[in-house]
Amino acid sequence: MSTEKTKSVAPSMDTELARLVVDRQLATCEEIEKARLAQQASHRSFADVLVEQEAVTSSQLSRLKKLIQESRDRQLTGYKLVSVLGAGAMAKVYKAVQLSLDRPVAVKILPKRLSENSEYVKLFYKEGRAAAKLNHPNIVQAIDVGEAGGYHYFVMEFVEGHTLYDELANGKVFSEEEALKIIIQIATALKHAHSQGLIHRDVKPKNIMITPEGVVKLADMGLARSTGDAEAAQAEAGRAFGTPYYISPEQIRGEVDIDFRADIYSLGATLYHLVTGRVPFDGPTPVAVMHKHLKEPLVPPDHINTGLSSGIGEVVEVMMAKDRAKRYASTDDMLLDLQAIAAGEAPLQARRQIKDNVLNGLADAEQNGPPSADIADAIQQPPAVQSSLLTYIIALAAALAVSVLINIVMLLK
Ligand SMILES: Nc1ncnc2c1ncn2[C@@H]1O[C@H](COP(=O)(O)OP(=O)(O)OP(=O)(O)O)[C@@H](O)[C@H]1O
Ligand SMILES: [Mg+2]
Repeated sequence: MSTEKTKSVAPSMDTELARLVVDRQLATCEEIEKARLAQQASHRSFADVLVEQEAVTSSQLSRLKKLIQESRDRQLTGYKLVSVLGAGAMAKVYKAVQLSLDRPVAVKILPKRLSENSEYVKLFYKEGRAAAKLNHPNIVQAIDVGEAGGYHYFVMEFVEGHTLYDELANGKVFSEEEALKIIIQIATALKHAHSQGLIHRDVKPKNIMITPEGVVKLADMGLARSTGDAEAAQAEAGRAFGTPYYISPEQIRGEVDIDFRADIYSLGATLYHLVTGRVPFDGPTPVAVMHKHLKEPLVPPDHINTGLSSGIGEVVEVMMAKDRAKRYASTDDMLLDLQAIAAGEAPLQARRQIKDNVLNGLADAEQNGPPSADIADAIQQPPAVQSSLLTYIIALAAALAVSVLINIVMLLK
């Protein structure tokens, strides 16, 4: 795929609409220009402005849009677009029919901005190919990637159902049992993807779909993010439940070696939202939210919803540790704990991890002398986090006492 090719990009929907309106003598070029200026000033859609200015009626508008749609369909060889399923910050998703197999599929068409970015397109094909090799009941199956009229597209399994975001937006708070059923399915999906070396990087309620039978599927596996993660998150400024609510601290910092632990953090943030009805960190701007992911101690979910078990609190604490070295050491360990708490048992992996974190903190303190600002910061953390720190402080005090005792004994000798 050459850059030459990606430059021959098809016109945008607005341009095509304007051309059709003028061709059909529904409005003059001057009226179109006036509508464009009004649109820029008001942030409404160009089509809406055309209707408001009575250049076209709503029914004319839907006919014109259908026409544009159909002409675009013909460019997507092998697929017939049927309807729009939804749109995210990055692209639009259509329901389509894969003509060769006569089956419904979902097609995500990248916007011009991304289709023209050769670096991104390269990554898009690479990850798309990797994702197509995955086969898991809880992952939306990647089917095809391709290019038509300068637009690159991603074809995937069509999922009948809705997203977890839809349920949260309706104000639903999930019971611990319901939430764990969902999160366990996504954790098995991630375990499979991670074992094949694929990291999702954007686990969030909008990318989790539920079928009417209750099967949960992780969407957008293999859809590389457009820019640096932090930049992509900021691009979603102002969008309710936008990405910054679930992004890991290392993605915010723009680290390049993002690994499975970023997905563990985002899944933890998603679990948190399901069982408390709140995102873990909120703020007036995406930057404020991201700052909290980096710096603010997490209020344990069982402190917000006191009906939750302490086990789920411990699991979320480890999933959402700010330092990824303090999260689960593997996706499998996390899955074992999720299954344990779902069965009413203790989360042994989380407890082991918390103990390791404490011992490592102790070893660091021994090496580096008195507690640093980091530890002082951590001491201000909420009670669930403090419980692990308490053990650490007691151990430190005991070590100090032994050392004083030895000194006294030696002096007495
Ligand atoms: N495979 C699919 N089958 C059916 N519907 C889908 C499928 N993939 C996506 N959708 C629908 O399309 C919508 C838009 O998806 P898209 O991935 O473009 O954006 P998003 O995940 O909601 O948000 P963003 O792109 O901002 O991260 C989804 O909310 C969902 O309703
Ligand atoms: Mg998505």
